Amino acid sequence: MSRLTDKIVVVTGSSSGFGRGIAKAFAAEGAKLVISDIHEEPLTGGFEDDADLTTAEAIVKAGGQAVFIRADVTKPDQVANLMTETVATYGRLDVLVNNAGVFRGGKFLHEFTEQDLDICYQVNVKGSFLAAQEAVKQFLSQGDGGNIINIVSTAGLQGHPKQSVYNISKGAAANLTRVLAIEYGQNKIRVNGICPTYAKTALTRELFDDEDFDTAFTESIPLKRWGEVEDISKLAIFLASDDSSYIHGDLIKVDGGETLCRYSV
Ligand SMILES: NC(=O)c1ccc[n+]([C@@H]2O[C@H](COP(=O)([O-])OP(=O)(O)OC[C@H]3O[C@@H](n4cnc5c(N)ncnc54)[C@H](O)[C@@H]3O)[C@@H](O)[C@H]2O)c1
Repeated sequence: MSRLTDKIVVVTGSSSGFGRGIAKAFAAEGAKLVISDIHEEPLTGGFEDDADLTTAEAIVKAGGQAVFIRADVTKPDQVANLMTETVATYGRLDVLVNNAGVFRGGKFLHEFTEQDLDICYQVNVKGSFLAAQEAVKQFLSQGDGGNIINIVSTAGLQGHPKQSVYNISKGAAANLTRVLAIEYGQNKIRVNGICPTYAKTALTRELFDDEDFDTAFTESIPLKRWGEVEDISKLAIFLASDDSSYIHGDLIKVDGGETLCRYSV
């Protein structure tokens, strides 16, 4: 039995990386997908093995259902249009995956620019807030619940050095998860967050290619490896499905044990 048969799912930032992996995995479980991003093609530098195809093309090629709707999550009118077009296409919304995100790192707090702070806030905080707002309005009008999955980070659960602008934006994304869960549980809208450590996508390509970082990072992880997109998409399927029907307001780590201890053995 497919676990997400006919569920209508919007995944923001799904032309690349986690969003793309989640969209493809959901489609393979029977969901009908809205792929949304600022551009349709995957980012260069990612680890996709089918990067010549857009996410929607890859899903359709595999026998699934997907459409692309362009939306910059920082723009309220584009986010509203994303939800309107989703409902016009499929008739309703069942799941929002708030995935679109940007990373800025490699500097101490006093070295970051205002632009570094603004872009992390705009995409990672405001973008997730706006998409959640539109999804909640749609869920409330449908009257039979809903499901929001926020892609947060272990950076939302603890302090991470040399990425303060990202770190504080993900702290906000974690609290967005909590407050949504508190306010809308009564409406049967489930909300959870996924908190990965570094996983292989275009967002981390520079770090992955840095031999010193790669060695130190891998050594610091009890499971001694980077995260893979599939590690995140498997949990997302569970959270979107009825198998997780009493899991609510949780921030679930997918981190190979990263957050257990700062010392490696
Ligand atoms: N890769 C990691 O190690 C890691 C770890 C923890 C959390 N995350 C989070 O996971 C999410 C996905 O990251 P990823 O690694 O797949 O990154 P990625 O860079 O591979 O993909 C991010 C996607 O978001 C899109 N995007 C960026 N700005 C947007 C905007 N304004 N509107 C719509 N789409 C936009 C990009 O075009 C891109 O396709 C992000 O929220 C990120 O912070 C990633």
